[in-house]
Amino acid sequence: MLNLNKLFKEIKIDIKKTKTIVELDQIKIKYLGKKGILTEYIKNLKNFSCIDKKKYSIIINQKKQEIIKNIKQHSQYLTEMILETRIKKEKIDVSLPGRRCNNGCLHPITQTMNYIKNFFFTLGFQSINGLEIEDEYHNFDALNIPKNHPARNSHDTFWFDSNRLLRTHTSNMQIRIMKSEKPPIRCIFPGKVYRHDYDITHTPMFHQIEGLIVDKNITFSNLKWIIYNFLYYFFGKKVSIQFRPSYFPFTTPSAEVDIINQDTLQTLEILGCGMVHPNVLTNVNIDPNIYSACAFGIGVERMTMLRYEIYDIRSFFDNDLRFLNQFKYN
Ligand code: DAH
Repeated sequence: MLNLNKLFKEIKIDIKKTKTIVELDQIKIKYLGKKGILTEYIKNLKNFSCIDKKKYSIIINQKKQEIIKNIKQHSQYLTEMILETRIKKEKIDVSLPGRRCNNGCLHPITQTMNYIKNFFFTLGFQSINGLEIEDEYHNFDALNIPKNHPARNSHDTFWFDSNRLLRTHTSNMQIRIMKSEKPPIRCIFPGKVYRHDYDITHTPMFHQIEGLIVDKNITFSNLKWIIYNFLYYFFGKKVSIQFRPSYFPFTTPSAEVDIINQDTLQTLEILGCGMVHPNVLTNVNIDPNIYSACAFGIGVERMTMLRYEIYDIRSFFDNDLRFLNQFKYN
């Protein structure tokens, strides 16, 4: 009995000493396992007299239950302790500066396109995107640009075959929309265009926004009003401009709009425009005696270069982050 009491005390001390669940498991095996010390005691009971057997087995079993309870409690305690120390160790320092993630931004050309589009949206224009692969008819023929006309050569076209090409301007959309919609039409056509050209002011791909108004009684003054107001909106101030007579096969009269630098009196051409040629209207089955139309084509790169004082058009497409990051907060 003495030995037993001593053993139970030892077991309890051993349990308390354990610092990990693994250690606790080992203690459990040591005393309660198949060959554990307490198990051996119970096995030895068979050598006792009947009365002693009964007496001791009751005590031992009671104690055994106590030990099992002890182990359970300690195991719970250990689990909590381990969690608590882990939480303490892993505490978050909320005062540390966060890891910065680098946000991108819209490309300056996209930003300018959106900006220009917004102006025309307020005037009730609809924006329509077109396909970049076009045929000769929509890019040239229907726009009153005959086969051997020099204007065709100036476009430095990328041809796929004798008929298909990468559109050289967004004017092709004038034809497509006038064929599919009935007047009144008030549309802009933003998009990519392609020409075989590469230097400080030309890239093989660039962007245009074409505008078209078809209605009864559209006159050159409607066109002028829109261009004036658009440029006022775009530059955020009154700019000196001139409508310089020009030539485009699909408009008559045609004009190019120049910006005039008031200090140097230098001029810079920024867009082409005009009254849609009666031949073009006839090509799309709109009667030029009833309807008239005006159109304009804005070079988006050129406008963006003016807006941000950029001198080399190629910087838009070099993908140099030092350049592009400058347009983050616009
Ligand atoms: N398509 C012409 C070009 O790419 C630009 C242009 C000029 C468009 C006059 C027009 C216009 O709509 O009326 O050079």
